[in-house]
Amino acid sequence: MSELHLATKSSPIPGTTRDRLGRPLRDLRISVTDRCNFRCVYCMPKEVFGKDYQFLERKALLSFEEITRLARLFKAHGIEKIRLTGGEPLVRRNIEQLIAMLAAIPGLDLTLTTNGSLLQKKARALKDAGLKRITVSLDSLDDAVFMRMNDVDFPVARVLEGIDAAAAAGLGPVKINMVVKRGLNEDSILPMARLFRERGHILRFIEYMDVGHTNGWRMDDVVSAREIVDIISAEMPLEPVDANYRGEVAERWRYRDGQGEIGVIASVTQAFCRDCTRARISTEGKLYTCLFATGGHDLRELLRGGADDARIHAAIDAIWVQRSDRYSEIRAAQTVKLEKIEMSYIGG
Ligand code: GTP
Ligand code: 5AD
Ligand code: SF4
Ligand code: SF4
Repeated sequence: MSELHLATKSSPIPGTTRDRLGRPLRDLRISVTDRCNFRCVYCMPKEVFGKDYQFLERKALLSFEEITRLARLFKAHGIEKIRLTGGEPLVRRNIEQLIAMLAAIPGLDLTLTTNGSLLQKKARALKDAGLKRITVSLDSLDDAVFMRMNDVDFPVARVLEGIDAAAAAGLGPVKINMVVKRGLNEDSILPMARLFRERGHILRFIEYMDVGHTNGWRMDDVVSAREIVDIISAEMPLEPVDANYRGEVAERWRYRDGQGEIGVIASVTQAFCRDCTRARISTEGKLYTCLFATGGHDLRELLRGGADDARIHAAIDAIWVQRSDRYSEIRAAQTVKLEKIEMSYIGG
């Protein structure tokens, strides 16, 4: 019997539930599609996600109504932010409708992480629907390097146009995520830092992670946050800044001359599980309490089985109370071999 079926009592005060390590639930990441129009080598390598790859069927996906119902329920558990992810969230048809439905829930920071490919077309509609801000992934300014990484020959210029469109639509300051993989895009660190400093966007460097089991991760491929800060600081001196909020994933650094800031996400070399307040809902409605979880809890079954709100509240509560995940902190050679979920499925 799953934990969901054992769940009986809910927390006395909504939003105060703590997991086994004392962490509250604050940040909900919802994957709206498992599909993507890119094949980034560190995320959806073509050898695995080829022509024959079976993506989820349409009816398996949570509907906009189901997602919105869950969002409202999670809000009562203390969620302050919802981030839509994918795959690539902008390939989900009529995504702006979902944004409008979620934006109607008061008191939520509503944001989205995208590869930027469809942003030029969609930025205005997303803003009008009520999206508050946006994060765009971009790994290099060099077309040859970027194309090698996205593996679908997508040019840098079109992502930059998307970023401009987002800023013009009022979704800024835009955050840019750059995954750094040794030997692949290290040389892009400085050009990226220079450009986004000039444009006033916040660039965040992400250490390459061992998510899923398809990307062939090796520790040698990781360029550490420390190394990245040193490379940038040697040309444009940096100093540390306090976090915006407890549990912020990115460690903030600002340029000493006052012109902007960057972030480094050191999930490999400096794990941040201690303050991890994130829950993730997969495209088909499974709740995961860790990015590296090996299994999720089926909320869709409850939604489609006619469970009332009290029942779903109790289930969420029971799952969170039992949570003890801290994968990055205990990452060790043998755990890397676990059958973990794919990042493209759960959305990062
Ligand atoms: P803000 O809301 O702007 O502070 O952004 P965020 O911290 O939610 O950032 P974002 O969702 O863009 O996360 C950036 C990247 O950090 C993700 O794409 C992941 O690569 C990594 N990341 C985010 N959350 C976690 C987490 O819980 N665990 C680990 N190991 N990595 C994470
Ligand atoms: N390591 C670190 N970050 C990753 N992302 C995808 N795969 C990995 C990985 N293996 C990032 C993307 C995007 C976000 C959704 O997750 O670049 O910014
Ligand atoms: Fe698509 Fe993002 Fe994964 Fe790249 S990292 S394949 S853009 S989901
Ligand atoms: Fe949170 Fe798991 Fe990431 Fe640690 S490894 S920060 S517990 S999602």
